[in-house]
Amino acid sequence: MPCSEQDYAYLRELVLNQSANFIDPSRNALFEARLTPLARSSGENDLEGFVRMLREKRPAHLQRVVAEAMMINETSFFRDHTPFELLRRSVIPKLIEQNQTERKLTLWSAASSTGQEAYSLGMMLCEYFPQLAGWDVKIIATDISQQARDYGQRGRYRRLEVNRGLPARMLLRYFERDCDEWEISPRVRTMVEFRPVNLCAPLPLLPKFDLVLLRNVLLYFPQQDRSCVLTDVHRAMRPHGALLLGNAEQAEDSTDLFRVEFEQDCYYYRPRVAA
Ligand SMILES: C[S@@+](CC[C@H](N)C(=O)[O-])C[C@H]1O[C@@H](n2cnc3c(N)ncnc32)[C@H](O)[C@@H]1O
Repeated sequence: MPCSEQDYAYLRELVLNQSANFIDPSRNALFEARLTPLARSSGENDLEGFVRMLREKRPAHLQRVVAEAMMINETSFFRDHTPFELLRRSVIPKLIEQNQTERKLTLWSAASSTGQEAYSLGMMLCEYFPQLAGWDVKIIATDISQQARDYGQRGRYRRLEVNRGLPARMLLRYFERDCDEWEISPRVRTMVEFRPVNLCAPLPLLPKFDLVLLRNVLLYFPQQDRSCVLTDVHRAMRPHGALLLGNAEQAEDSTDLFRVEFEQDCYYYRPRVAA
């Protein structure tokens, strides 16, 4: 039996509270598709019964699992040409110059989904910046979704996934084929560390970052949450750091914190003042 409008409203509110993601009412069918398997594995016959149980018992763990199940995890290797070109030609060389003395680079893929963004960064550093050999380079990949993080941590991707955005040369150099899957090389994998972070909750202790990729996630948040997230991200950045957003995202309400450095098919900002 399909859910009532009140049930959908309850689920919408739950997801918003847990993750700040707003599920538009036009996408109610997504609740059925994503949560029916969860309802069944929790011993309920249908989504209606599952919502009733959630309302009555309010199990904290299940509430989190429901929100995670509703996340849009769409991603790919080297997603979008412009930002990765910008990183290669300008942003990374500048950071290397600035960090010459300490020989340390700390990067953050702040909504990493299944890891393709973080591994793309790793491959790019190996491929184009041999001068980083001997540097302390770390890429922290964080996401609210445990399932997405576990997938990324595994470092194994299906043909369909490596066929999206990954140049054949990179596939051959940085992956090893194992039956139907391709496994990322230990050299790149060891650069990346996956951690749980809900961007809309107080941030856990994180290192100060030289570069933050916060791409294709702000667009799911209401305006007020976007501003809070950008304030936290600013605090987590080094004064000379760089922030890259997706091409449909801007820090328009945080111009006191960030100044635009580049805006064409993606947004690249630098902090205005030391955090
Ligand atoms: C569309 S993917 C973007 C992945 C990658 N950054 C890219 O551009 O390809 C959005 C990711 O944001 C994560 N996400 C959504 N809300 C979040 C939150 N409140 N905190 C942390 N991650 C969140 C989702 O789990 C999902 O993996």
